[in-house]
Amino acid sequence: MRIIVIGRGTIGSAVEKAFAERGEEVIPVSRSGRNPRADMTDLESLKALFKAVGRFDAVACCAGEVAFVPLERATEEQWADSIASKAMGQINVVRTALPYIADNGSFALIAGVLSRQYIAGGTIASVVNSMVEGFVKAVAVELPRGIRINAISPTVLTESVAYHPFFPGFIPVAVADVAQAYVRAICNPMTGRIIKLH
Ligand SMILES: NC(=O)c1ccc[n+]([C@@H]2O[C@H](COP(=O)([O-])OP(=O)(O)OC[C@H]3O[C@@H](n4cnc5c(N)ncnc54)[C@H](OP(=O)(O)O)[C@@H]3O)[C@@H](O)[C@H]2O)c1
Repeated sequence: MRIIVIGRGTIGSAVEKAFAERGEEVIPVSRSGRNPRADMTDLESLKALFKAVGRFDAVACCAGEVAFVPLERATEEQWADSIASKAMGQINVVRTALPYIADNGSFALIAGVLSRQYIAGGTIASVVNSMVEGFVKAVAVELPRGIRINAISPTVLTESVAYHPFFPGFIPVAVADVAQAYVRAICNPMTGRIIKLH
């Protein structure tokens, strides 16, 4: 399989490794670093990415920023940027990749525990993760050519120690387990599913 992995951070690097270990061809993408680059908030850069890569079998999306801020301090910009990045960014990945992805191809998007469990300062993330999950469930019924889509919804990662104080009582998940959830979503005949790691 040829798999585009968007995001080369904690989750993206682990996903890249998990697919490479299975012998798949991985095309890692992020905003910075070596080519290919793309910014999910920029439609034209996504169009250019998929056109340049050509045919591929799957897209694993491991990127998207959300603001963690108490509700009363959250600004218009923080709301708009978070929706534009993690929600519309991933939605636009699917929309722009659609003409190029192979028949029976597969998308795996990133959501997160905050669509179902709630923390102080997490309202924007909860709303954005719910948007991602809603999109996945809805679009799964109208994707053409046998194309599938699922969302990965991890709790806070063991490796993301800086976030741990904001998630009291949450049992972290190892990033390697999250990476295997992407493998599960992309390599099995499931669609419209939210794979929960929490
Ligand atoms: N870490 C956790 O505990 C956790 C738990 C549940 C869910 N999540 C979700 O998982 C996703 C990834 O988290 P992470 O911890 O792996 O993040 P991370 O380590 O900060 O890495 C983020 C990666 O995404 C890329 N990226 C960010 N915005 C992008 C954009 N607009 N277009 C293209 N690439 C972009 C970055 O590229 P550049 O470096 O080149 O900018 C970077 O490679 C996030 O959506 C997060 O909400 C994380």
